[in-house]
Amino acid sequence: MRLRLRLAARARSTKTGCHAFPTLVGRGIWKGQLAFGTGEYKAEESRVSRFSGKIAIVSGAASGMGEMEARIIADEGGKVVLTDVQSALGERVAADIGSSAVFRQHDVADERGWAEVVQLARDTFGPPTVLINNGGVGAYGGIHEIETEYMRRIMEINFMGSFFGIRAVLPSMREMGGGAIVNISSGLATTSLAGYFPVGTSKWAVRGMTRLAAKDLAPFNIRVNTVFPGAIDTPSLVQEVRDNAKSLIPLGRAGGSDECARVVTFLASDEASYVSGAEVMVDGAMLC
Ligand SMILES: NC(=O)c1ccc[n+]([C@@H]2O[C@H](COP(=O)([O-])OP(=O)(O)OC[C@H]3O[C@@H](n4cnc5c(N)ncnc54)[C@H](O)[C@@H]3O)[C@@H](O)[C@H]2O)c1
Repeated sequence: MRLRLRLAARARSTKTGCHAFPTLVGRGIWKGQLAFGTGEYKAEESRVSRFSGKIAIVSGAASGMGEMEARIIADEGGKVVLTDVQSALGERVAADIGSSAVFRQHDVADERGWAEVVQLARDTFGPPTVLINNGGVGAYGGIHEIETEYMRRIMEINFMGSFFGIRAVLPSMREMGGGAIVNISSGLATTSLAGYFPVGTSKWAVRGMTRLAAKDLAPFNIRVNTVFPGAIDTPSLVQEVRDNAKSLIPLGRAGGSDECARVVTFLASDEASYVSGAEVMVDGAMLC
């Protein structure tokens, strides 16, 4: 579907201007100029039909990077089930995408709900072979400060939510002869920062699960990869980091949600057909 719409992300923008890629223009890969880092995705600039014939599920797709990933998949020929706890926003995004998208309110920590999400995908479009475990939350405090129930809830959302998602899509992926799963971890899973215990621990768990799942699922031709966003300018970004991006981040700015979503959708596409168990940092050199 070649939409000529300019699809604006909800993410706040860090305007950085346009960068031309003359070596790629003319090879039929990119059309025109790209505007990386603006938190915007221009449909007419996309690669051709990378998701043609594919059915995807993106969790946490009402906003930020998940919204952007859903838009890219739909624009590049795929069908997509968006899920989120925020129903009004999710419905609006799916309606804006059009007939290639459907929204279902779902808390990723609800295992039974995952079966319903997969069934919705099957009934509406067919068996899903792409899963982006994107829905998640930031959660702060030291191990000495947090309540047990708080920790349990964060593990249920950030870690078990992705685990449930993988388990729920496996039958469809096996039935279709393969699939691609991208788990969204965090730059926090590459280091140890004081005061970030719940989110850091849960994202480390996502990192470990990805590597183990990549080994277990390779015999079924299912690829599993992780992306570590650093500071991406979405509603989740800690304000202090946004305010001090210039000094904290070597590239001098927070990333746009489009910049992370492009990496995620690459891993979810067949362009990454030999990439599994990979850990990709998208952080402007902040944590390397
Ligand atoms: N923005 C960053 O700098 C950054 C850094 C590291 C990791 N991440 C991770 O990236 C992912 C996407 O976040 P984002 O930055 O786009 O933020 P965002 O807040 O725009 O999007 C996250 C979405 O997940 C949804 N969500 C929250 N809890 C949920 C639940 N229990 N079930 C289903 N959906 C739920 C939210 O409603 C929201 O729409 C998250 O997993 C987040 O932890 C973001």
